[in-house]
Amino acid sequence: MKTKVAELITTLYQDNTLSKEELVYILDHIKQEEMELLFNLANATRKANYGSKVFLRGLIEFSNYCKRTCQYCGLRCANVKRSRFRLTKEEILACCYQGYELGFKTFVLQSGEDDYFTDEILTDIIGEIKQKFPDVAVTLSIGEKSNSSYRNYYEAGADRFLLRHETATKELYDKLHPGMSFANRRECLENIKVIGYQAGAGFIVGLPGQTSEILAENLVYLKEFKPHMIGIGPLIVHPDTPLKDYSNGSVEQTLICLALTRLLLPDVLLPSTTALNVLVPQGLKGGLQAGANVVMPNLTPVEERKKYELYQRRISADESKFLLARIEKCIEEAGYEVDKGRGDHKSFCRTKLE
Ligand code: 5AD
Repeated sequence: MKTKVAELITTLYQDNTLSKEELVYILDHIKQEEMELLFNLANATRKANYGSKVFLRGLIEFSNYCKRTCQYCGLRCANVKRSRFRLTKEEILACCYQGYELGFKTFVLQSGEDDYFTDEILTDIIGEIKQKFPDVAVTLSIGEKSNSSYRNYYEAGADRFLLRHETATKELYDKLHPGMSFANRRECLENIKVIGYQAGAGFIVGLPGQTSEILAENLVYLKEFKPHMIGIGPLIVHPDTPLKDYSNGSVEQTLICLALTRLLLPDVLLPSTTALNVLVPQGLKGGLQAGANVVMPNLTPVEERKKYELYQRRISADESKFLLARIEKCIEEAGYEVDKGRGDHKSFCRTKLE
C-alpha cells in the first residue's frame, strides 16, 4: 500500500505545491524507499525543465573582510584568528581571464560584507568585466546593501544577486545574526527582485534549534518569493565560531530539502553546493541526483582560497583548470551533461532601470 508520505510526494510532483503541514509531515516521516521516490521525481522534474544539463559558474572570492557576526560563519569579524585578504581589481580580472579561457560564462563575485568596496570601486570592476567579456553573466554575492547600491551594481551590468535568507523564522534568524534585522534581509531580497536581477535566496540546513517546522517554513517562503536561484547547504561547524560545539548539518536532510525545492519550484536554478561536497565525497553527485542543476567551481587563487573560510574545507592546491576537469568528469560520470553557457533562468530578460 502506498504510504501517506509517498502520496504527498506524488501530489507535490503533480501540483508543485503542498501546505506547510504536509511538508512537515514528509520531513518527519520520510523513509529510505520514499526518499528514492522523492529523488527520482525531483530528477525527472529537473530533466523536464533543463534536460541533463548542469550549468557551471566560476566562483571568485574577492574579500574575506566582513563587518557582520553571523554565529556560524568563519568570516565573522569577531574571528580574530582569521587572516584577511582583498583581491585587487587586476587580480579579480585575472581570475576572469583564466575563467573565460576555461569556458565559463558566469562569474560569481563573492565576499564578506566589506565596506572597503564602495559602489564606485565595485561598479568600476563590474563594468570592466562586462566590457572585457560581454557574453558573460556577472553574479554578486556580497550581502546586504542599500537599494541605491543594488541599483548601481545593476546599472553597471550585474545580472544576478545571491542573498540567502539563511533561515525563514525571525526568532532563529535573530539568534544567529546579532545586530542584523530579519525585516531588512527580506527587504533586500524584495529590492533585488524588483530591480530586475535574477535573485537567489536560500538557507542552511542543520542550524541549532532548527525544527522540521522551521525547515518547512523555509520551503514555503521560497515557494512564495519565487527566486530564480536557490542555495541550500548543510551547516559545517567552524571551530572559531560560537557554534563550535554543535554538529554539522545532515547530508540526507539537505538532499531532501533540495529535492522538495525542485518539486516546489520546477525551473529554479539549484546548485549542488560546495558545503555538501565537503561533508561527503560523493556530495556533488548526490546533489545532482536530488534535482540540482548548477555547480560552482572555484576560480579564486589558492592562497586566498585557503583564507576564505566560511567553514573549513579541503582546499585543493590544484590550479583551476585541473579542478574544473575533475568536476566535469564527476558531472559526466553521474550521467549529466556540462553546459558552459550563461545558464540564465528561463524567465530572465534584462530591462533598463527607470
Ligand atoms: N556552514 C555552512 N554554510 C555557511 N555559510 C556561511 N557559513 C557557513 C557554515 N559554517 C553560508 C551562508 C552564506 C553562504 C555564502 O555561505 O548561508 O550565505
